[in-house]
Amino acid sequence: MNNIKITGYGDDLTINGIRIGDLSPFEHEQIEKEKGGNNYHPLENVVVSSVFDDTTFIARKPDPEKIKKFLEFELIDGLCCYSAVNPGQLNKTIVDAIVSHLQMEKIPTVPRSIRHKYMSALLIAVTAFTEMDKMVPKVAGVEGPEMMFKIARRWAYEQKGVPEGKALTIVAENNFHGRSMFAISASTDPLSRKDFGPFLPGIIKVPYNNIPAIEQAITENAEFLSAVILEPIQGEAGVIVPSDDYLPAVKKLCEEHNVLFCLDEVQTGYCRTGANFAHQLWNAKPDLMSCGKAAGGGIIPVSYVAGRADLIDVLSPGSEGSTFGGYPLACIAAVYSIKVMIEENLAEMARIRGKRLLKHFADIQKEFPNKMKETRGKGLLTAFEMYKAPQLDGHQVSLKLLKKGVYAKETHKSIVRVAPSLTITEKNIDTIAEAIRDVIKEL
Ligand SMILES: Cc1ncc(COP(=O)(O)O)c(C=O)c1O
Repeated sequence: MNNIKITGYGDDLTINGIRIGDLSPFEHEQIEKEKGGNNYHPLENVVVSSVFDDTTFIARKPDPEKIKKFLEFELIDGLCCYSAVNPGQLNKTIVDAIVSHLQMEKIPTVPRSIRHKYMSALLIAVTAFTEMDKMVPKVAGVEGPEMMFKIARRWAYEQKGVPEGKALTIVAENNFHGRSMFAISASTDPLSRKDFGPFLPGIIKVPYNNIPAIEQAITENAEFLSAVILEPIQGEAGVIVPSDDYLPAVKKLCEEHNVLFCLDEVQTGYCRTGANFAHQLWNAKPDLMSCGKAAGGGIIPVSYVAGRADLIDVLSPGSEGSTFGGYPLACIAAVYSIKVMIEENLAEMARIRGKRLLKHFADIQKEFPNKMKETRGKGLLTAFEMYKAPQLDGHQVSLKLLKKGVYAKETHKSIVRVAPSLTITEKNIDTIAEAIRDVIKEL
């Protein structure tokens, strides 16, 4: 059917007579319910319309007087698209590079079956930034851990001598590696697994941040073990920061038993935790590392696996690939994202602002010790956890914060993650903290 008419831009974008700028938050919700999948539960009664600055959205909420259908207000973004927008929304360096690339260079899309000149730029920049020998580009974050899993299995068969079909992989309980079949096979979250089986075999799950448990799993399965795949800090689980000896101990155990030490830095990479990559906080360099989210500057989806040359070299033509993995526009976003991380000192910014935010959290916890159970974080990957009680529900906190002009979303019922852009001002950190304080007081 070709009876589709699409005209205009911005609020004037009109599809078959429906002007997007005329829709109220309620109408957006209705359209999503009618025509979209039911796989998210976004905050009610709010629709982001544009960005005001690097850390602030312009959002629309219902107009109580119904004269107009919505009111616009400023909303500080305390989530940053789950750490995809580390350099801030519309970072000028990255936007200029992308616009100039499209308008001046005129080479957005080229397949991997013919070389384009920006692939070299990507390879040079990413290997320098990650301090790894080689990298392979993909698109979505989930593709990173997925590829680490595959590379590790192939390495196990071809290099370690594991009998075909017998390779094992250790992961941590409560991990989040995305939504692919590997990721949910590795997951312990019933919501992401229900009725999607059968799952991939050969995955052993151990408690996170528990050295004796992983030591036992590694030693008992060493002969068939390809890799341990962990998040250096568990983000989705509620910003679970391991003890200082955990990652170095796991790395050492892996070395001793000829097992690959693989880290999923999709959420923790790109300066989020106060270092370029979280593993640097503990001097625990992985053999393979997956990155995503902020790797594309928060504008273009870019992910990759970087690692030791001998491991990346187990891949052969036909074994891996991606139409948009490493296409010219993605290379530009990726290269300039790295430039911004370094030139805008974003690791240091994350350390400084994160310290301030965590100090605020500690003060709030002192003030409300019966409500706030724990606060934690590294750099600007932070969270506070409330005691489990109906009135301390994390979703209610998110809704109340929204009313005060701050967007932060609960992970699990009683934990609220706060991870704003790394360019956030001191003033906005204080505003976020003040809003949290007011909300906790009200609960
Ligand atoms: C550690 C980690 N790995 C993988 C993913 C999946 O990334 P994506 O949603 O871009 O596929 C996420 C997303 O939150 C993540 O936090």
